[in-house]
Amino acid sequence: MEKIISLGKRRGFIFPSSEIYGGFGSCYDYGPLGVELKNNIKRAWWQSLVQLKDNIVGLDASILMSPKVWEASGHLTAGFADLLQECKSCHHRFRKDFLKSNKCPDCGEELMPARKFNLMMKTFVGPVENESSTTYLRAETCQGIYMNFENVQKSMRKKIPFGIAQIGKAFRNEITPGNFIFRMREFEQMEMQYFCKPENKKKLFDSWKEERMKWYLNLGIKKENLRFREHKKDELAHYAKRACDIQYKFPFGWDELEGIHDRGDWDLSNHAKYSGKDLSYFDEETKERFIPHIIETSAGADRSLLAFLLNAYEEVKGGRTTTTKAVKEVEVVLRLDKNLAPIKIAVLPLVKKGGLISLAKNLFKDLQKYWMVQYDEVASIGKRYRRQDEIGTFYAVTIDFETIRDRAVTVRDRDTMKQERIKIEELTDYLKGKLK
Ligand code: GAP
Repeated sequence: MEKIISLGKRRGFIFPSSEIYGGFGSCYDYGPLGVELKNNIKRAWWQSLVQLKDNIVGLDASILMSPKVWEASGHLTAGFADLLQECKSCHHRFRKDFLKSNKCPDCGEELMPARKFNLMMKTFVGPVENESSTTYLRAETCQGIYMNFENVQKSMRKKIPFGIAQIGKAFRNEITPGNFIFRMREFEQMEMQYFCKPENKKKLFDSWKEERMKWYLNLGIKKENLRFREHKKDELAHYAKRACDIQYKFPFGWDELEGIHDRGDWDLSNHAKYSGKDLSYFDEETKERFIPHIIETSAGADRSLLAFLLNAYEEVKGGRTTTTKAVKEVEVVLRLDKNLAPIKIAVLPLVKKGGLISLAKNLFKDLQKYWMVQYDEVASIGKRYRRQDEIGTFYAVTIDFETIRDRAVTVRDRDTMKQERIKIEELTDYLKGKLK
């Protein structure tokens, strides 16, 4: 984790929020490379669920909603609270389920009895701050989907089973945030709600579980770093009838990346009850009217990003770049999948000489039309290769003296380090084929 945190900061992936003021409550900012990586993760998720499925559509609901939503969903009551214990001496607070004894992990003194602590983040809407202007920052994005179940179903003429997918921020006043971006107070979720008939949900639950696991595997997460964990009855969230996590083997232990939940008719039934609006669905074929059940796949964009970084990070001892001065120290390669790598191509003129520079800059401009490309002319070619390997750049294109004569460049593959000589006029098609 230390290495990932350091790489994240040094190479512009992730910075602590409000750092000049000492950081802020487990919030983080994504730097220039972090935002590219996160966008690529979100794009891959959207592509697999919305673009490639004909019965799932997208949504972008507002973060602020009527407080009644949270009353009906069970989030304001006992359902969405952690048991908290406070130290009698230093007054530090801990989640009861994370404690090993009744002693304070920080000062060793006794802890007070456990009490419930609600995780919803409160805010006020309008100029007056009182109970009637209170609402909450959403704690899960899916509630915005339930609010729009009927709007989407009718406007898109969807027949059950169908899904609605959404990516967006969620907020929780976590008692013990930590492990870098693993548990934050502001984070991003990628959630899909699949509305179905109750009798079909067992089969759908199992197939979504497999499909979501495949998504991580297809994007390069090693099989040995992933597993399923089925929740026991007494662990289930207040809305869930069944839950299975996809876990990743983090340096601090196996933990949740994504949850697949059978939410039954909990959400639509409660919203119908609290709003007085009929949220049932009429099946034209069977002439049945029923409240759809929901199978949810709920992934964290930040947690996946952490897992993708950890999974891709590799140290190569003794150096791997072929320069005259053999590199003794450890070199880092970030073996991110080509769809996720923040920068796909680096354009590197061998030396800073007039003819090479203008050729390289023209090439850079051409490639930028298709991909995120970096231009780098500073330091030896070996050092520049290492810089690109460390951020996971897929290809390095080198322009050398020969280029002026033969109109060809050297393309170096990040993983195999194989170098191929490619004609400039064929370069874009060559890279398009490779990066498809
Ligand atoms: N709608 C269901 C739901 O929100 P959850 O298991 O509480 O279920 C789903 O959250 C996913 O959201 C988690 O698997 C995790 O990836 C992400 N997540 C939840 N709390 C988080 C936090 N405090 N920081 C970062 N990610 C979080």
